[in-house]
Amino acid sequence: MPSTVLIGAQWGDEGKGKMIDVLAERNDLIVRFQGGNNAGHTIRLGDSKFVLHLIPSGILRRGKKCVLGNGVVINPEALFNEIDMLKKAGISVKNRLFVSGQAHIIFPYHYLIDRLREESKKNETIGTTKRGIGPAYGDKVSRVGIRACDLIDPKRLKLKLQQVLKEKNDILTKIYKVKPLSFSKTYKQYAKYGKKLKPYVIHTTYYLDEALRKKKKILFEGAQGTLLDVDHGTYPFVTSSNASVGGALIGTGTGPRAIQKIVGCVKAYTTRVGEGPLPTAFPPYLARVVQTRGEEFGATTGRPRRCGWFDAVIARYSAIVNDLTMLAVMKLDVLDGLSELRICTGYRLRGKLIKKMPAQADDLAACKPVYERHKGWMTSTANVKKYEELPSRAKSYLRRISALVGVPIGVVSVGSDREQTIFVNAKK
Ligand code: GDP
Ligand code: IMO
Ligand code: MG
Repeated sequence: MPSTVLIGAQWGDEGKGKMIDVLAERNDLIVRFQGGNNAGHTIRLGDSKFVLHLIPSGILRRGKKCVLGNGVVINPEALFNEIDMLKKAGISVKNRLFVSGQAHIIFPYHYLIDRLREESKKNETIGTTKRGIGPAYGDKVSRVGIRACDLIDPKRLKLKLQQVLKEKNDILTKIYKVKPLSFSKTYKQYAKYGKKLKPYVIHTTYYLDEALRKKKKILFEGAQGTLLDVDHGTYPFVTSSNASVGGALIGTGTGPRAIQKIVGCVKAYTTRVGEGPLPTAFPPYLARVVQTRGEEFGATTGRPRRCGWFDAVIARYSAIVNDLTMLAVMKLDVLDGLSELRICTGYRLRGKLIKKMPAQADDLAACKPVYERHKGWMTSTANVKKYEELPSRAKSYLRRISALVGVPIGVVSVGSDREQTIFVNAKK
């Protein structure tokens, strides 16, 4: 079966949006399977820049079908804003965008509680995007969530909202001491969203199954990254969904044999936004240089991203968790001006050398990276079109990354444009 999953193999913002846009050309359907509008996927097309939070990045490619699978959590307002933004740019989603009836809906109490919970913590804040992601997934697992299939049925919506809002208002008023949400106002607003969402809602599991039977090519678009996965990431500094490859199956109702390629998207360095350990963080001067050159500011919240050296330990861990078949190394050009580069090959944890990622976030925070040094290439790679034409030091840096991660590099990206993409012959 010719399906591909594209996964963030670090802490998100690896450049998945750009890679999805590139790969979408050779696929028929692009499917989001987890996360919600906490994601921010940027696609640059000439002078235009699109930031998509919910709609798959394949929507920018004419004729491609896009699906929001059951694993996604949907803020309807954010979705309609995105549809309007695309419409203004001359891109229609009609008959191209499909939403799973089993996808859970984000309500105002979700993002209120997300914010209030974060603000009430003295320390150990997660630094969430405050989009209500954690509380919405919490309700899903607690079996009190409201799904798209409920939203589009006013009677069912009324019943479910009545039940759930009572408990949420208790939480809001008694724990957080804020005003309760009005049932009638929330119901009215969401019933309106339901009416608007109805034409998009289908049973996406059957839709995808039929597509696979017709030999259509599916591209699964991961959001966030493996180290933010609720099971495999640096818990509790994670998001609330499975951002690793298993999420693509659970979040769409597709079987494992549908998947042929698993592409891990990595930056040629490492970034992280929000709280949680980042062992290879740059010293302040270098952090500023890379943050500026790489425009490392969150596409969703605008927060500055922390930056550091390429961490081969976490990337190797991602390769294992996701069974990566190929790496897409993004933003190599950002390193063009650095005279010396480092790659983290292991950590020293309380005096002991380790090569594996510790399971505990506080152990990872206590890790001191062990680096190997590489000479920088000190020349622009932004216009390089072929792998052979990359500076030899850049090639040896990439070869080393590939060897340490244990996965061949299939793509090297040297700029945010579609054209700034180098396909590497897998044999090299
Ligand atoms: P995503 O969340 O993984 O889709 O990544 P984001 O869109 O949040 O962040 C990646 C940023 O890097 C975006 O602004 C992209 O336009 C940009 N980008 C992607 N690939 C490259 C590249 O190869 N070089 C440079 N300089 N920028 C890139
Ligand atoms: P894309 O798809 C980077 C981070 C937040 C926070 C943690 C939990 O653009 O790569 P949440 O709001 O999900 O409960 O926040 O996860 N986070 C991301 N970091 N890229 C993302 O998405 C992220 N989505 C969430 O900063 O640390
Ligand atoms: Mg992003």
